[in-house]
Amino acid sequence: MLVQHATQLKEEILKLKKQKDVVILAHNYQVPDVQDVADFVGDSLSLSRQAAKVENKTILFCGVHFMAETAAIISPQKKVLIPDLEAGCSLSDSITVNDLRKWKKEHPGAISVGYVNTTAEIKAELDYCCTSSNAVNVVKAIPEDKEILFLPDMFLGSYVAKMTGRKNMYIWAGECHVHAGISPSDVHKKLDDLVNAEFVIHPECSCTTSMLYDVASGDYKNRQVQILSTEGMMNYVKNSSAQQFVVATETGILYRMRQQNPGKTFVPASEKAECQYMKMITPEKVYNSLMEDKYEVKVPKEIADKARLAIERMLSVS
Ligand code: 13P
Ligand code: SF4
Repeated sequence: MLVQHATQLKEEILKLKKQKDVVILAHNYQVPDVQDVADFVGDSLSLSRQAAKVENKTILFCGVHFMAETAAIISPQKKVLIPDLEAGCSLSDSITVNDLRKWKKEHPGAISVGYVNTTAEIKAELDYCCTSSNAVNVVKAIPEDKEILFLPDMFLGSYVAKMTGRKNMYIWAGECHVHAGISPSDVHKKLDDLVNAEFVIHPECSCTTSMLYDVASGDYKNRQVQILSTEGMMNYVKNSSAQQFVVATETGILYRMRQQNPGKTFVPASEKAECQYMKMITPEKVYNSLMEDKYEVKVPKEIADKARLAIERMLSVS
């Protein structure tokens, strides 16, 4: 995009959103030009909280479809727009509502806990919804004698099982192709190159399970390793006295990290960790979305009413 065009487009977007009283929420993985026009940038949990809190009648959600659906479920009286309806999520696609119904039948009485990266239809079948930042606390809040079905992310699931010591937890074998693509060898290489760097990992990463094992067995004694949601990472790197960080998640987060911490160095665990769905949202599409009030994300009332209960439980656990 030409610089002049990009600047002009940003100005137009800022003007339009004010005129039309639209709030723009953007996920940490959005491209820099989209983050720059947003009113709030954050992780799934903080954006859900913002969607519930803002007073604007229209929310323009710059993220993927399930996130916009979550905002529409929480705020049925608001109009929720997404700039591209095709912005999906491989993790959310890894379980269907029929898969879940069948799984629940096989475990009568079990409590189902689903990551926020799921469709509205799935959320309507869940007891609890969670995000990467509160998954451990959501599971801790469930009585110990209850079986748990955790879905759809197997890496987040095994992380939660490890952190809670929960033995009666069944984990769906789903994954996010971006995080699953960050391998332990990518990570080891970066850590070997940057001996003073701290290491922050998203719990969806395939490296999480082996890293947790290594951390537990003392292999990383001299190295700070933190397993965090994207917003947890933002807070951690800001408050840490370290100057270098290896970051294992989608690379879009590096823009905000560098912007907020100009003196520190951030290196991606894998340069290839790009989510093509998140990158479908461009400033041009944001502009068109504002101009033409498209594309509205609507969730049928009977599904939204059921899904809202699981989401409200998620929002009540920090
Ligand atoms: P966060 O909730 O940590 O932002 O993660 C969302 C997501 O889609 C990770 O890929
Ligand atoms: Fe889904 Fe993975 Fe993209 Fe996140 S990074 S939106 S989990 S595909």
